[in-house]
Amino acid sequence: MANIGKDIRLAKEFLQKGQLVGIPTETVYGLAGNALDESAVLSIFEVKNRPSFDPLIVHTDSVEKLSGLVSDIPDAAYLLTQKFWPGPLTLLLPKKTSVPDLVTSGLDTVAVRIPDHPLTLELLRSLDFPLAAPSANPFGYISPTNPQHVDQQLGEKIPYILNGGECGIGIESTIIGFVEGIPTIYRLGGLAIEEIESVVGEVILMAHSSSNPQAPGMLKSHYAPKKPFYLTERSRFPIHEDGFGYLLFDQYIDGVDEKYQRILSPGGNLKEAAHNLFAFLRELDAQTLSQIWAEPVPAIDLGRAINDRLKRAAAED
Ligand code: TXA
Ligand code: MG
Repeated sequence: MANIGKDIRLAKEFLQKGQLVGIPTETVYGLAGNALDESAVLSIFEVKNRPSFDPLIVHTDSVEKLSGLVSDIPDAAYLLTQKFWPGPLTLLLPKKTSVPDLVTSGLDTVAVRIPDHPLTLELLRSLDFPLAAPSANPFGYISPTNPQHVDQQLGEKIPYILNGGECGIGIESTIIGFVEGIPTIYRLGGLAIEEIESVVGEVILMAHSSSNPQAPGMLKSHYAPKKPFYLTERSRFPIHEDGFGYLLFDQYIDGVDEKYQRILSPGGNLKEAAHNLFAFLRELDAQTLSQIWAEPVPAIDLGRAINDRLKRAAAED
Protein backbone atom coordinates (compact mmCIF):
# COMPACT_ATOMS: atom_id res chain seq x y z
CA MET A 1 0.00 0.00 0.00
CA ALA A 2 1.15 3.55 -0.67
CA ASN A 3 1.57 6.24 1.93
CA ILE A 4 -1.37 8.65 1.87
CA GLY A 5 -0.83 12.16 3.21
CA LYS A 6 -0.85 15.88 2.61
CA ASP A 7 2.91 16.42 2.53
CA ILE A 8 3.63 18.48 -0.58
CA ARG A 9 7.38 18.50 0.11
CA LEU A 10 7.46 14.71 0.18
CA ALA A 11 5.42 14.48 -3.03
CA LYS A 12 7.84 16.92 -4.62
CA GLU A 13 10.87 14.84 -3.55
CA PHE A 14 9.47 11.66 -5.10
CA LEU A 15 8.64 13.50 -8.33
CA GLN A 16 12.10 15.08 -8.51
CA LYS A 17 13.61 11.58 -8.26
CA GLY A 18 11.54 10.45 -11.27
CA GLN A 19 9.03 8.52 -9.16
CA LEU A 20 5.24 8.66 -9.48
CA VAL A 21 2.72 10.19 -7.08
CA GLY A 22 -1.08 10.03 -6.96
CA ILE A 23 -2.44 13.58 -7.11
CA PRO A 24 -5.89 15.01 -6.45
CA THR A 25 -7.65 17.16 -9.02
CA GLU A 26 -11.19 18.52 -9.16
CA THR A 27 -12.06 15.88 -11.79
CA VAL A 28 -10.41 12.56 -10.84
CA TYR A 29 -7.12 11.52 -9.23
CA GLY A 30 -4.08 11.53 -11.50
CA LEU A 31 -1.00 9.30 -11.64
CA ALA A 32 1.66 11.99 -11.92
CA GLY A 33 5.26 12.01 -13.08
CA ASN A 34 7.73 14.54 -14.48
CA ALA A 35 6.40 15.21 -18.01
CA LEU A 36 9.86 16.13 -19.28
CA ASP A 37 11.59 12.99 -17.95
CA GLU A 38 11.17 10.10 -20.42
CA SER A 39 11.82 7.41 -17.88
CA ALA A 40 9.19 8.81 -15.48
CA VAL A 41 6.73 8.98 -18.37
CA LEU A 42 7.54 5.41 -19.35
CA SER A 43 6.79 4.23 -15.84
CA ILE A 44 3.36 5.95 -15.98
CA PHE A 45 2.49 3.73 -18.96
CA GLU A 46 3.85 0.66 -17.16
CA VAL A 47 2.08 1.26 -13.84
CA LYS A 48 -1.26 1.87 -15.59
CA ASN A 49 -0.71 -0.92 -18.08
CA ARG A 50 -1.61 1.65 -20.70
CA PRO A 51 -0.91 1.16 -24.40
CA SER A 52 1.76 3.53 -25.66
CA PHE A 53 -0.56 4.88 -28.39
CA ASP A 54 -2.79 6.59 -25.81
CA PRO A 55 -1.22 9.99 -25.02
CA LEU A 56 -1.09 11.76 -21.63
CA ILE A 57 -2.34 15.12 -20.35
CA VAL A 58 0.31 17.58 -19.13
CA HIS A 59 -0.64 19.59 -16.03
CA THR A 60 0.75 22.99 -15.21
CA ASP A 61 -0.19 25.88 -12.92
CA SER A 62 -0.08 28.97 -15.14
CA VAL A 63 -0.76 30.06 -18.71
CA GLU A 64 2.73 31.65 -18.75
CA LYS A 65 4.36 28.24 -18.23
CA LEU A 66 2.44 26.94 -21.27
CA SER A 67 4.81 28.77 -23.59
CA GLY A 68 7.49 26.23 -22.69
CA LEU A 69 5.25 23.40 -23.91
CA VAL A 70 3.20 24.66 -26.87
CA SER A 71 4.14 26.66 -29.95
CA ASP A 72 0.83 28.44 -30.45
CA ILE A 73 -2.31 29.33 -28.51
CA PRO A 74 -5.17 30.16 -30.90
CA ASP A 75 -7.41 33.06 -29.81
CA ALA A 76 -10.33 30.75 -29.02
CA ALA A 77 -8.07 28.60 -26.84
CA TYR A 78 -6.76 31.64 -25.02
CA LEU A 79 -10.32 32.81 -24.33
CA LEU A 80 -11.15 29.40 -22.90
CA THR A 81 -8.10 29.45 -20.62
CA GLN A 82 -9.12 32.86 -19.29
CA LYS A 83 -12.65 31.75 -18.60
CA PHE A 84 -12.23 28.17 -17.36
CA TRP A 85 -8.70 27.64 -15.96
CA PRO A 86 -8.00 26.38 -13.42
CA GLY A 87 -10.77 23.92 -14.23
CA PRO A 88 -12.01 20.75 -15.92
CA LEU A 89 -10.90 21.66 -19.43
CA THR A 90 -8.01 20.17 -21.43
CA LEU A 91 -6.75 21.84 -24.61
CA LEU A 92 -4.94 20.12 -27.49
CA LEU A 93 -2.29 22.54 -28.76
CA PRO A 94 0.72 22.25 -31.11
CA LYS A 95 3.60 20.88 -29.07
CA LYS A 96 7.14 22.12 -28.72
CA THR A 97 10.05 19.68 -29.00
CA SER A 98 10.65 20.04 -25.24
CA VAL A 99 7.67 17.71 -24.70
CA PRO A 100 8.83 14.10 -25.18
CA ASP A 101 7.12 12.23 -28.04
CA LEU A 102 6.34 9.53 -25.52
CA VAL A 103 3.93 11.90 -23.75
CA THR A 104 1.96 12.62 -26.92
CA SER A 105 2.31 9.16 -28.49
CA GLY A 106 4.06 10.82 -31.40
CA LEU A 107 1.24 13.29 -32.15
CA ASP A 108 2.16 16.89 -32.93
CA THR A 109 -0.31 18.22 -30.35
CA VAL A 110 0.00 18.05 -26.59
CA ALA A 111 -2.94 17.93 -24.17
CA VAL A 112 -2.59 20.56 -21.42
CA ARG A 113 -4.61 21.72 -18.47
CA ILE A 114 -4.46 23.66 -15.20
CA PRO A 115 -6.32 21.57 -12.62
CA ASP A 116 -8.40 23.25 -9.92
CA HIS A 117 -7.23 21.70 -6.69
CA PRO A 118 -5.36 23.72 -4.03
CA LEU A 119 -2.88 20.96 -3.05
CA THR A 120 -1.98 20.06 -6.61
CA LEU A 121 -1.69 23.72 -7.64
CA GLU A 122 0.70 24.28 -4.74
CA LEU A 123 2.69 21.21 -5.76
CA LEU A 124 2.86 22.37 -9.39
CA ARG A 125 3.98 25.84 -8.33
CA SER A 126 6.81 24.33 -6.30
CA LEU A 127 8.13 22.23 -9.22
CA ASP A 128 10.25 23.38 -12.13
CA PHE A 129 8.66 20.86 -14.48
CA PRO A 130 5.05 20.09 -15.49
CA LEU A 131 3.31 16.83 -14.54
CA ALA A 132 2.09 14.23 -17.00
CA ALA A 133 -0.91 12.60 -15.35
CA PRO A 134 -3.49 10.18 -16.69
CA SER A 135 -6.30 9.10 -14.39
CA ALA A 136 -4.83 6.93 -11.62
CA ASN A 137 -6.57 3.67 -12.52
CA PRO A 138 -5.44 0.58 -14.41
CA PHE A 139 -6.11 1.13 -18.13
CA GLY A 140 -9.78 0.57 -18.99
CA TYR A 141 -11.10 0.53 -15.40
CA ILE A 142 -13.19 3.17 -13.58
CA SER A 143 -11.36 6.41 -12.74
CA PRO A 144 -10.56 7.09 -9.04
CA THR A 145 -12.30 9.91 -7.19
CA ASN A 146 -10.73 9.49 -3.74
CA PRO A 147 -7.27 8.45 -2.46
CA GLN A 148 -8.50 5.01 -1.35
CA HIS A 149 -9.57 4.21 -4.92
CA VAL A 150 -6.01 4.94 -6.05
CA ASP A 151 -4.49 2.95 -3.22
CA GLN A 152 -6.68 -0.11 -3.84
CA GLN A 153 -5.43 -0.50 -7.39
CA LEU A 154 -2.06 1.18 -7.71
CA GLY A 155 -0.94 1.37 -4.07
CA GLU A 156 1.63 -1.40 -4.47
CA LYS A 157 3.28 0.35 -7.38
CA ILE A 158 3.66 3.95 -6.18
CA PRO A 159 5.26 5.40 -3.04
CA TYR A 160 2.86 8.24 -2.25
CA ILE A 161 -0.67 9.55 -2.76
CA LEU A 162 -1.35 13.20 -2.02
CA ASN A 163 -4.60 13.26 -0.07
CA GLY A 164 -6.92 15.94 -1.39
CA GLY A 165 -10.12 14.23 -0.27
CA GLU A 166 -12.93 13.46 -2.69
CA CYS A 167 -12.85 15.00 -6.15
CA GLY A 168 -15.53 17.69 -6.42
CA ILE A 169 -16.54 17.17 -10.04
CA GLY A 170 -15.93 13.44 -10.27
CA ILE A 171 -15.70 13.05 -14.03
CA GLU A 172 -12.66 13.69 -16.27
CA SER A 173 -11.96 16.99 -17.99
CA THR A 174 -13.57 17.98 -21.28
CA ILE A 175 -10.97 17.78 -24.08
CA ILE A 176 -11.03 20.38 -26.86
CA GLY A 177 -8.85 20.51 -29.96
CA PHE A 178 -8.85 22.95 -32.86
CA VAL A 179 -9.51 21.35 -36.21
CA GLU A 180 -8.78 23.97 -38.87
CA GLY A 181 -9.28 26.52 -36.13
CA ILE A 182 -12.72 25.25 -35.10
CA PRO A 183 -13.11 24.17 -31.47
CA THR A 184 -13.79 20.44 -31.49
CA ILE A 185 -14.76 18.27 -28.53
CA TYR A 186 -12.57 15.16 -28.34
CA ARG A 187 -13.98 13.98 -25.02
CA LEU A 188 -17.09 15.11 -23.16
CA GLY A 189 -16.27 15.85 -19.53
CA GLY A 190 -16.61 17.98 -16.44
CA LEU A 191 -17.12 21.25 -18.32
CA ALA A 192 -20.47 21.24 -20.14
CA ILE A 193 -20.63 22.03 -23.87
CA GLU A 194 -23.22 24.69 -23.11
CA GLU A 195 -20.63 26.59 -21.04
CA ILE A 196 -17.96 26.26 -23.71
CA GLU A 197 -20.32 27.44 -26.45
CA SER A 198 -21.21 30.50 -24.41
CA VAL A 199 -17.59 31.59 -24.84
CA VAL A 200 -16.50 30.41 -28.31
CA GLY A 201 -19.78 29.79 -30.16
CA GLU A 202 -20.79 26.48 -31.68
CA VAL A 203 -18.35 23.60 -31.33
CA ILE A 204 -18.02 20.35 -33.25
CA LEU A 205 -18.49 17.08 -31.41
CA MET A 206 -16.09 14.42 -32.66
CA ALA A 207 -17.76 11.05 -33.18
CA HIS A 208 -16.62 8.20 -30.97
CA SER A 209 -14.34 5.66 -32.43
CA SER A 210 -12.46 2.74 -31.06
CA SER A 211 -10.03 2.63 -33.93
CA ASN A 212 -9.43 6.15 -35.11
CA PRO A 213 -5.70 6.84 -34.90
CA GLN A 214 -6.44 10.57 -35.12
CA ALA A 215 -8.31 10.46 -31.87
CA PRO A 216 -6.57 8.02 -29.58
CA GLY A 217 -8.49 9.36 -26.59
CA MET A 218 -11.69 7.94 -27.88
CA LEU A 219 -11.40 4.25 -27.23
CA LYS A 220 -14.95 3.03 -26.85
CA SER A 221 -14.60 0.45 -24.13
CA HIS A 222 -13.39 2.32 -21.09
CA TYR A 223 -14.37 3.28 -17.56
CA ALA A 224 -15.70 -0.24 -17.29
CA PRO A 225 -16.55 -2.23 -14.18
CA LYS A 226 -15.36 -5.85 -14.08
CA LYS A 227 -18.91 -7.18 -13.97
CA PRO A 228 -21.13 -7.36 -17.05
CA PHE A 229 -22.59 -3.86 -17.39
CA TYR A 230 -25.67 -2.85 -19.40
CA LEU A 231 -27.19 0.51 -20.24
CA THR A 232 -30.87 0.83 -21.10
CA GLU A 233 -34.10 2.57 -20.06
CA ARG A 234 -35.36 1.33 -16.68
CA SER A 235 -38.58 0.04 -18.24
CA ARG A 236 -36.42 -2.56 -19.99
CA PHE A 237 -34.45 -3.72 -16.93
CA PRO A 238 -34.71 -7.36 -16.01
CA ILE A 239 -35.68 -7.54 -12.33
CA HIS A 240 -33.73 -10.24 -10.57
CA GLU A 241 -33.76 -9.51 -6.91
CA ASP A 242 -30.64 -11.29 -5.76
CA GLY A 243 -27.84 -10.82 -8.12
CA PHE A 244 -28.42 -7.75 -10.25
CA GLY A 245 -27.29 -4.26 -9.26
CA TYR A 246 -28.85 -1.02 -10.54
CA LEU A 247 -27.31 2.40 -11.10
CA LEU A 248 -30.16 4.91 -11.31
CA PHE A 249 -30.57 8.63 -11.82
CA ASP A 250 -33.02 9.94 -9.24
CA GLN A 251 -35.42 7.21 -8.12
CA TYR A 252 -35.31 3.67 -6.78
CA ILE A 253 -37.06 0.92 -8.68
CA ASP A 254 -39.88 -0.74 -6.81
CA GLY A 255 -39.63 -4.31 -5.69
CA VAL A 256 -35.83 -4.49 -5.47
CA ASP A 257 -33.85 -4.33 -2.23
CA GLU A 258 -32.31 -0.84 -1.93
CA LYS A 259 -28.92 -2.31 -1.13
CA TYR A 260 -28.65 -3.41 -4.76
CA GLN A 261 -29.44 0.09 -6.00
CA ARG A 262 -27.52 3.38 -6.14
CA ILE A 263 -29.26 6.69 -6.82
CA LEU A 264 -26.89 9.18 -8.46
CA SER A 265 -28.89 12.20 -7.32
CA PRO A 266 -32.20 11.95 -5.43
CA GLY A 267 -32.91 15.60 -6.34
CA GLY A 268 -32.13 15.04 -10.04
CA ASN A 269 -29.04 17.27 -9.99
CA LEU A 270 -26.55 16.42 -12.76
CA LYS A 271 -23.54 17.86 -10.90
CA GLU A 272 -24.29 15.63 -7.95
CA ALA A 273 -24.80 12.69 -10.31
CA ALA A 274 -21.37 13.26 -11.93
CA HIS A 275 -19.78 13.54 -8.50
CA ASN A 276 -21.20 10.15 -7.44
CA LEU A 277 -20.91 8.27 -10.72
CA PHE A 278 -17.53 6.52 -10.44
CA ALA A 279 -17.68 5.87 -6.69
CA PHE A 280 -21.11 4.24 -7.03
CA LEU A 281 -19.98 2.17 -10.00
CA ARG A 282 -17.07 0.90 -7.91
CA GLU A 283 -19.39 0.10 -5.00
CA LEU A 284 -21.69 -1.95 -7.20
CA ASP A 285 -18.70 -3.64 -8.81
CA ALA A 286 -17.43 -4.64 -5.35
CA GLN A 287 -20.73 -6.26 -4.27
CA THR A 288 -21.57 -9.89 -4.91
CA LEU A 289 -23.69 -9.16 -7.96
CA SER A 290 -23.64 -10.93 -11.29
CA GLN A 291 -24.65 -7.97 -13.48
CA ILE A 292 -25.02 -4.21 -13.26
CA TRP A 293 -27.82 -2.35 -15.06
CA ALA A 294 -27.77 1.43 -15.55
CA GLU A 295 -30.18 3.95 -17.02
CA PRO A 296 -29.15 7.06 -18.99
CA VAL A 297 -29.53 10.47 -17.32
CA PRO A 298 -31.04 13.58 -19.02
CA ALA A 299 -28.79 14.48 -21.97
CA ILE A 300 -28.09 18.10 -21.06
CA ASP A 301 -25.14 19.79 -19.30
CA LEU A 302 -23.02 17.24 -17.43
CA GLY A 303 -25.62 14.60 -18.30
CA ARG A 304 -24.00 14.26 -21.73
CA ALA A 305 -20.64 13.37 -20.21
CA ILE A 306 -22.27 11.00 -17.72
CA ASN A 307 -24.10 9.20 -20.53
CA ASP A 308 -20.85 9.05 -22.51
CA ARG A 309 -19.11 7.26 -19.60
CA LEU A 310 -22.05 4.89 -19.14
CA LYS A 311 -22.04 4.06 -22.86
CA ARG A 312 -18.34 3.40 -22.85
CA ALA A 313 -18.62 1.26 -19.73
CA ALA A 314 -21.24 -0.81 -21.55
CA ALA A 315 -19.35 -1.00 -24.86
CA GLU A 316 -17.91 -4.32 -25.85
CA ASP A 317 -14.71 -3.33 -27.61
O1 TXA B 1 -9.60 15.15 -15.79
C1 TXA B 1 -8.66 14.66 -16.42
O2 TXA B 1 -8.45 14.95 -17.61
C2 TXA B 1 -7.77 13.66 -15.68
C3 TXA B 1 -7.03 14.40 -14.58
C4 TXA B 1 -6.03 13.51 -13.87
O3 TXA B 1 -6.41 15.53 -15.12
N1 TXA B 1 -6.88 13.02 -16.59
C5 TXA B 1 -7.29 12.12 -17.51
O4 TXA B 1 -6.25 11.55 -18.22
O5 TXA B 1 -8.44 11.81 -17.68
P1 TXA B 1 -6.41 10.24 -19.11
O6 TXA B 1 -5.03 9.92 -19.54
O7 TXA B 1 -7.12 9.21 -18.35
O8 TXA B 1 -7.21 10.72 -20.33
C6 TXA B 1 -6.61 11.63 -21.22
C7 TXA B 1 -7.17 11.47 -22.58
C8 TXA B 1 -6.79 10.16 -23.18
O9 TXA B 1 -7.93 9.48 -23.59
C9 TXA B 1 -5.89 10.56 -24.34
O10 TXA B 1 -6.00 9.69 -25.42
C10 TXA B 1 -6.35 11.95 -24.66
O11 TXA B 1 -6.63 12.49 -23.40
N2 TXA B 1 -5.28 12.74 -25.28
C11 TXA B 1 -4.13 13.12 -24.71
N3 TXA B 1 -3.36 13.78 -25.59
C12 TXA B 1 -4.04 13.83 -26.75
C13 TXA B 1 -3.78 14.37 -28.03
N4 TXA B 1 -2.65 15.02 -28.31
N5 TXA B 1 -4.73 14.22 -28.99
C14 TXA B 1 -5.89 13.57 -28.72
N6 TXA B 1 -6.20 13.03 -27.53
C15 TXA B 1 -5.29 13.16 -26.55
MG1 MG C 1 -8.34 7.71 -17.92
